[in-house]
Formats: sequence, C-alpha cells, structure tokens
Amino acid sequence: MAVTIKSAREIELMRESCRILSEVHDRLSEAIRPGISTYDIDALGEKLIRSYGCVPNFLNYNGYPASICVSVNDEVVHGIPKKERILQEGDIVSLDAGLIYKGYHSDAARTYPVGQISEEARQLIDVTRQSFFEGIKFAKAGYHLYDISNAIDRYVSRFGYGIVRDLVGHGIGTHLHEDPQIPNFRQWRKGIKLQPGMTLAIEPMINLGGYGVEWLSDDWTVVTQDGSPSAHYENTVLITEGEPEILTLPKDAKG
Ligand code: MF3
Ligand code: CO
Repeated sequence: MAVTIKSAREIELMRESCRILSEVHDRLSEAIRPGISTYDIDALGEKLIRSYGCVPNFLNYNGYPASICVSVNDEVVHGIPKKERILQEGDIVSLDAGLIYKGYHSDAARTYPVGQISEEARQLIDVTRQSFFEGIKFAKAGYHLYDISNAIDRYVSRFGYGIVRDLVGHGIGTHLHEDPQIPNFRQWRKGIKLQPGMTLAIEPMINLGGYGVEWLSDDWTVVTQDGSPSAHYENTVLITEGEPEILTLPKDAKG
C-alpha cells in the first residue's frame, strides 16, 4: 500500500478524529489510580469514544478483544484489559487508544504513574515521551523518514534504555495502519522523503532494560524478555512545510 497524502478535507477529518481522541485520553488519565482494574479503564474508554459518536478502531482489529490496550509494568503494548488486573501503587501503565471519526482513524498512547513510582520508572516515562519530541524535530517536509527514527535512537541511547525493534510506528488515515512503517531505532537507509499531507503515528516503545520482547500465550500482550518495565508514547502527527502538527495533543499543550 502506498503512502497516502491527505487532501485539505481529509486533514480536517483527521484533525477532528484526533482532537476527540486527545479528549478521551485526558478523561482516561483522570481515572488512573491504585485499585482500578484494567477492564474498567477499557470500559470507560469505549464509553467515552462512543459518546462522541465514534467507533473504537482497536476493537476486533485482527481479533483484538477490547477497545483500549492497557499495558502494565513489563507489558510493552497490547495488554488485554482484565477484571482481575488491578492497578497497584508503584505500577506504570500505558494506555493506547484509537478511534474512527467519519472514516478517519486516530491513534495515541501515553504512560502514566500509578500513585508514587520509583525514580527510575519516572525517568523512563519522561525519556520515552521526550524521545517522541526529539523525533518530530525532523517530521517536516524536506527531511527523510528515518531522520525521525535516528533522532529518537540518538536521544534514547544516551540513557542506555532498550528501544523495541519488533514493533514500529505507521502511517494512518482511512486505515489504522498505512505505509510507511516508522522504526524507532537507527536506520542506515534514508527512507521516503516527507511531504505535507502525510499523517503518521509515531510511537516509541522503550524498555528500562534490553530491547528484547516476547509475546504471551494470549497472542497479544507484548512483554519485555528481561522483565524490566516499559513505556510507550504515541501521537498522530501531520507533516506540513513547517512545524509538524501534533493532532492528538491539544494545540496549547505540551503533552
Ligand atoms: N497503537 C497500536 C498500533 O499502532 C494499536 C493497535 S493494536 C490493536 O499498532 F489493538 F488494535 F490491535
Ligand atoms: Co499506533
């Protein structure tokens, strides 16, 4: 599938899809506390998405059984919500959510502390988020795709963290996953030239320990091989001639 360039009308629809998703994330963040189950987070997320007349795009995607991915501690991504999985003080939890508005997909993820967390977990969350912002310094017309990948790697590597290699970011639009794939680690090729109208979901997944991951027997949940905690930060971004527009963050927020 080719990389799509969105028209002005499509960009408006992407903006609205992503604006709604940022509100959903804000509301979900307020629900994070010790004692809530990952199931309840998913139920709230689905209710919020539907309250805007939108559809959760993860639900039933390749058979994924929920609307939100809720990944705790050593779970990297695609954690399946469960009634028995109760958040505890000291956990970190990644919420990955997406929705469809008038045919246009949005996708974003954030990692939150549950109550008081360790200093090393706090730094992992902050570095993962900052690595996204380092990457998008190169998300503009004229740069190449892997300038983004290389900037993320350069920043994260200073901290000695493991950058997940088995999962990558992606184009997004009328499908959740469009070309191109966007690795978060060093590439030697340049990748495609970025053009205004491309919409990309850029999503570093960073482990406190090594980069290795494995899949649990539920066929979804991705965990770190060494059991170290992992963080995830993702926004849907619009490429322009100038600064990228971070569609899944409110205009004046820094995320
Ligand atoms: N943000 C994830 C991604 O970009 C969510 C998709 S997982 C699934 O791949 F639940 F939808 F399958
Ligand atoms: Co994504």
